[in-house]
Amino acid sequence: MCGIIGRFGADGIDAVDDVLHGLKNLEYRGYDSAGIAVQGPNGIDIHKQSGTIDRLAAELDERPPEPRSHLAIGHTRWSTHGRPTDENAHPHTGCHGRVAVVHNGIIDNHETLRAELTAAGHEFDSETDTEVVAHLVEEYLPGAATPRDAFTRAVGRLEGSYAIALLVDGVDALFATRAGSPLVLGVGETGCFLASDVPAFLDHTDRVVYLEDGDVTVVTADGYAITTLDGEPVDRPVETVEWDPEDTQKGTHDHFMSKEIFEQPTSLSQALQGRVDPATQGVTLERFDPGAFADVSAVHLIGCGTSYHAALYGAILLRQHGVPAQAFLASEYSAVTDSETPLVIGVTQSGETADTLGALRTAQEAGLRTLALTNVVGSTAARECDDVLYIRAGPEIGVAATKTFASQVATLVLLTARITSDVGATPVDPDCLRAITSLPDVVKEVLATSNAFDLATRFHTADAHFFIGRGAAYPVALEGALKLKEISYEHAEGFPAGELKHGPLALVTESTPVIAVFTGHEDERLLANVREVQARGAPVVGLLSESSTTVAGVVDEALTFPDTHPLLSPVPATVQLQLLSYHIANLLNRPIDKPRNLAKSVTVE
Ligand code: M6R
Repeated sequence: MCGIIGRFGADGIDAVDDVLHGLKNLEYRGYDSAGIAVQGPNGIDIHKQSGTIDRLAAELDERPPEPRSHLAIGHTRWSTHGRPTDENAHPHTGCHGRVAVVHNGIIDNHETLRAELTAAGHEFDSETDTEVVAHLVEEYLPGAATPRDAFTRAVGRLEGSYAIALLVDGVDALFATRAGSPLVLGVGETGCFLASDVPAFLDHTDRVVYLEDGDVTVVTADGYAITTLDGEPVDRPVETVEWDPEDTQKGTHDHFMSKEIFEQPTSLSQALQGRVDPATQGVTLERFDPGAFADVSAVHLIGCGTSYHAALYGAILLRQHGVPAQAFLASEYSAVTDSETPLVIGVTQSGETADTLGALRTAQEAGLRTLALTNVVGSTAARECDDVLYIRAGPEIGVAATKTFASQVATLVLLTARITSDVGATPVDPDCLRAITSLPDVVKEVLATSNAFDLATRFHTADAHFFIGRGAAYPVALEGALKLKEISYEHAEGFPAGELKHGPLALVTESTPVIAVFTGHEDERLLANVREVQARGAPVVGLLSESSTTVAGVVDEALTFPDTHPLLSPVPATVQLQLLSYHIANLLNRPIDKPRNLAKSVTVE
């Protein structure tokens, strides 16, 4: 949560413009409040307030920092400590305004530090944990040989997770460090950036350094220097990011979510590119030679939210092919195993979700092999796990995960093909691997022909929406419900269809449409559940493939998708549900890309 950015520009660069623009691209990380601190000849100029970055930009238009400065830091907040008020907005300063700090993460020992600093005469303005950092540095400045020493001494006192960028009044330098929260250095022709994520500066440079925990970075007019806390130089490679700056803009779409739904034919093609041989259906996963999984006796898949649903799909798929596999919500994972030593796959779009990272670390402490299935190159999961497999979906900005779910599912099919082949389990049906290469076209057709809008107009005022499925359709039902509730604020729940009669059926009425997900597997049994629901008067929307005529004859309404292999149906089925949620939320006039109380990247447990 929270996005931070620092800009040290070359002469003539207006850091405020770059920081504001970067904050807009980080807004998906939080949008409770925003602020900026600008290094100026008369001290550090702070502008901050609750509300959106547009509000902050309007305020800066009215009261622009004078003169222009090449050095500034900025923050967009998702509240953890303290309400989203003007006072709690970052940047925070010490008592004398000598230091300004922006922070993403949580300082666990902030209460102890606050008490100590208060006893030393410091007065605090906010309820945040972050403010202690500014006071600590200010406390250490007078006795330190250099501002860097004061900074590192303060950082040495911090416990918890943090990515920090900091300015010291009158010092022409940008100070930053990280521990447990992401921080990337952008190295451009016109100076450097430090930010929580690459889209913050991708318009300016695609050359990045992924900083590691404990790295201290100081940017000056001479360039950047990375050291340990003790001042030992650290050499980190400069890498080139393959994302296109256009990918981080909405283009002609009203919302990032709609843009990202419609990008799925492309993002799926990227996920599959070079990984399936059309002639032999052989699967090649870069970084994994044949036999790389030969010693895998079981698999744990862990994730949160949408990524958990993909994990659940992966576990079902592996089990169907004879590989013992289980999916876990990352926040509930304990790595306790029976006699198995499972491969632990962390499914995470961002690679920064604290719950997932925590679960992966638990697995590593238990001596288990870990693999990150992620979208973000250089993310913490990618760096900390033993192995990494990228889903190659491109940047996803909308808080609701869409294209990344499809890419996770497609990549899990390929991974299943490789694991089953390496361990000698039931091979994935070659017809499935043949069909997967056409998946982008299947999705393209769904996007071109979907009637989800019509159904949205009929059902957007319903009392609640229930989603049911069996087998691989169950994660789709969960995902449909999550998508709808998070962006429309309407009550939506997903259930395994067989469970309805054990309780949830009591909720079903004429005003609660039930969306039944048919993937061509266990359709007969699901039809029996549909009839139970219809007997209670609920309208049933069948999500089904075009050739499912028997099902079509039973359900009241249909959302169809072109025929594909049953193992792949979850992808086009989910696309229909993404569209349904999107249209319902739009009809209800919800802030689709920035749902209340949520943030894209959840970096706190
Ligand atoms: O980045 P991750 O995939 O680890 O994120 C996990 C969840 O926070 C995420 O999928 C969340 O549930 C989405 N907002 C759902 O649309």
